Amino acid sequence: MEVVVVGGGRMGEALVGGLLATASIPPEEIGVVEVSAARRDALAARFPDLQLSPVVELAAAASGAVVAVKPPDASGAVGSLASLERPPARVLSIAAGVRLAALEAASRGTFPVLRAMPNLAAVVGASATGLAASGREEDLSWAEGVLAALGTVTRVPEKLLDAVTALAGSGPAYLFLVAEAMVEGGVLAGLPREAASQLVRQTFLGSARLLVETGESPEGLRGAVTSPAGTTAAGLRVLEGRAVRAAFVDAIDAAAARAGELGGPVSHEPGRS
Ligand SMILES: NC(=O)c1ccc[n+]([C@@H]2O[C@H](COP(=O)([O-])OP(=O)(O)OC[C@H]3O[C@@H](n4cnc5c(N)ncnc54)[C@H](OP(=O)(O)O)[C@@H]3O)[C@@H](O)[C@H]2O)c1
Repeated sequence: MEVVVVGGGRMGEALVGGLLATASIPPEEIGVVEVSAARRDALAARFPDLQLSPVVELAAAASGAVVAVKPPDASGAVGSLASLERPPARVLSIAAGVRLAALEAASRGTFPVLRAMPNLAAVVGASATGLAASGREEDLSWAEGVLAALGTVTRVPEKLLDAVTALAGSGPAYLFLVAEAMVEGGVLAGLPREAASQLVRQTFLGSARLLVETGESPEGLRGAVTSPAGTTAAGLRVLEGRAVRAAFVDAIDAAAARAGELGGPVSHEPGRS
């Protein structure tokens, strides 16, 4: 098989859905190992052609396996793949905070191990995923091809995955907080809550599309809607006066520090970037 996903939860399902939707891999080449019978039933109902199994043998001799179980289960899942008589050619973990050193110890040198950090937008195929850029190019290319089903992929040295976690992993939560606050502002300005909510959702979508599709810098786009002595300038003066910019910088710094504490030290073996 081309890809076997170990753990058919929210992220595993998003990955399978993305791989099938992009049609990059035929359905019979995609498998899911899932211990929960209820989850297997749900996956079978949504993806009738999918190969499903409660046991890891499904991944025998696969081109690659993706470990998408909860972080405390990730090393165990890698260990059971390493115990196969014919192990997969490579294993990619998306478990948050589980370092390559721990995954490599669990693999006992049986296969190359890769590590990536997607974000919640993977469920709509719009993840901003960081991929630890260490290992052989053929393994990284395989991982990139699989992760493309979830959204964009940015290669970074493993030591910067904590920063990816702080920025892109936690990022949606920061933006949801901004969205909540903007709805409240709209209500204060007199809009019915439902209308304010609809306007905020579309403002987020439109702003994201402008950022991505025009390739303009955030500064350039902000300048384009800030006319001299206008309404946007009046609003921005309040945000800058309350140090919102500095608060975001500090929030991402604090989240990166917390990711570092939770994950433990990053290995600095020779050859690791
Ligand atoms: N959700 C996100 O936004 C997000 C973002 C970035 C990274 N991640 C990472 O993605 C991973 C998966 O997250 P999730 O939200 O999809 O978790 P989840 O919904 O709990 O899915 C994990 C699934 O794997 C099953 N499982 C556990 N051990 C297994 C094993 N040895 N073999 C086969 N199946 C096994 C679990 O069954 P039981 O429940 O019965 O144990 C569960 O159904 C996590 O490590 C998380 O850190 C998630």
